[in-house]
Amino acid sequence: MTSSALAPAPTLTAADFARVVSLAHEWAGLAIPAGKEGLVHSRLARRLRETGHATFTAYLDWLQTAAGRDERTAVVDLLTTNKTDFFREPAHFDYLVQHVLPAVVARGTPLRLWSAGCSSGEEPYTLAMVLREELPAGYDVRILATDISTRIVERARQGRYTADQMAGVSEARRKRWFTQQPSPTGVQFTVSRELREWIRFAHLNLMGEWPMKGPFDAILCRNVMIYFDKPTQARLVQRYWELLAPGGHLFVGHSESLTSLEHRYRYVQPAVYAR
Ligand SMILES: C[S@@+](CC[C@H](N)C(=O)[O-])C[C@H]1O[C@@H](n2cnc3c(N)ncnc32)[C@H](O)[C@@H]1O
Repeated sequence: MTSSALAPAPTLTAADFARVVSLAHEWAGLAIPAGKEGLVHSRLARRLRETGHATFTAYLDWLQTAAGRDERTAVVDLLTTNKTDFFREPAHFDYLVQHVLPAVVARGTPLRLWSAGCSSGEEPYTLAMVLREELPAGYDVRILATDISTRIVERARQGRYTADQMAGVSEARRKRWFTQQPSPTGVQFTVSRELREWIRFAHLNLMGEWPMKGPFDAILCRNVMIYFDKPTQARLVQRYWELLAPGGHLFVGHSESLTSLEHRYRYVQPAVYAR
């Protein structure tokens, strides 16, 4: 047992908690509700030890210096979840196939999509599978896939999944779009080159500057806005509006809705809106 394992757990004071709340909001738009002291403590205490800080106050002071800048990503990562799945909320992919793709193909324009908050890549790779299956060969497609977590974007880029993570992918699709190798934990599935070549993964904090100009035919920002407060959500959906082509679609998570926000979208069906 190491001496750090014997050290008492650091205390999170009310002032420390208030600082975490304020910094997480400033850096990533996160809205941490009152009463989440236990969660903040349990998620961050290990990082104090790993970065050599004895107290939350010292750790937070360091985070606010240039030297602690990279660690901010780790904090945001620990305070959010990367939970995702292939074909999560499948009605959205059906809607794309039935409505978005036919309209784009009829116009003959390139297809531009953005998976905003793409986590470990299941969402953009699901898009790529569906598009490969539905669009004429050679169609001009680009999918931008971004996340605030550099760690998770790197995992997405690698495109390697365990059998458990592949639960939502049919046997036929596993054979068609993945290669399989034995791994120490069972089988490892690796995304094919054809799915990768349409996707550009990038690190992007939705609260910061956006280098891309659009227009996008669809933006998927699903199960991301749950972390943000209402004013932040309203600003974000307005910024999406400006990057969507006229008639373009915004997909949000099924537990999210624009109902209580001021916005200009046309409601299409649950969690689907159009500019
Ligand atoms: C629960 S996952 C959702 C993944 C996928 N969109 C889905 O629906 O399955 C939420 C993702 O949002 C990302 N996220 C949280 N705050 C963010 C921010 N300010 N900018 C960009 N991504 C953010 C997290 O890192 C996480 O990967």
